[in-house]
Amino acid sequence: MSLRLGVNIDHVATLRNARGGSHPDPVAAAHVAIEAGADGITAHLREDRRHIRDDDMERLQALCLETGIPLNFEMAATDEMVGIATRIRPHAVCLVPEKREERTTEGGLDVAGQHNRLVPMIQRLADNGARVSLFIEATRRQIDAAASTAAEVVEFHTGAYAHALDDGDQALADRILEQLVEGGKLASAAGLEVHYGHGLTFDNVAPVAAIPEAMELNIGHFIIGEAVFMGLAPAIAKMRDIMDAARADA
Ligand code: PXP
Repeated sequence: MSLRLGVNIDHVATLRNARGGSHPDPVAAAHVAIEAGADGITAHLREDRRHIRDDDMERLQALCLETGIPLNFEMAATDEMVGIATRIRPHAVCLVPEKREERTTEGGLDVAGQHNRLVPMIQRLADNGARVSLFIEATRRQIDAAASTAAEVVEFHTGAYAHALDDGDQALADRILEQLVEGGKLASAAGLEVHYGHGLTFDNVAPVAAIPEAMELNIGHFIIGEAVFMGLAPAIAKMRDIMDAARADA
């Protein structure tokens, strides 16, 4: 089965919000992404609404329903967000940790440490029809905790792998990649679907795409940034080609 690409369009909204108007519209970007071959659209409604806003989520869900492309709603595990997701009813909800002061999602969700709080929340989202995904570090402790909830999917955080490569530390990147590979095996054996995301680029995506258990990669910042130079559709098409080639060689 081919590896799915979820395109995260948050940073189109970052650019829009820089001027406070309506351009560029993240929903128009989602439309282009779908035409360019994205298998899913991902958007993160942050508690501070720094990029995506409530009405963007509603318009994205309408587009996704119209096109038959799944919407992956990333959100913090809060009652407010569960209420919004329950109303909007996206195909998937990905629970992520969120700190107001962070620039992006740092580290994975501590499902093991917050198990009692998260279990009923995940159940509520699942009962409402969402495929729940948990954005976690690829450790046995977090995988076991995720497997004991109603979540069907785990997304492993690839940020540390990407940072190690940015820093030129290939040995560290190799160790983290090994952990991401092992995590894929453990999660898959526990019956969870396996996704990866964060910090992926044309240069670092291939080894992640080659992980046999990987079913989906969620990629945002790099694709939107690269769109400035080559256009959004070509950036998505190039990412797809690199992912497909890595998979074919694996
Ligand atoms: N997956 C998850 C769960 C995320 O929180 C993010 C960032 O919002 C991404 C993927 C995409 O990361 P990036 O923008 O670095 O590609």
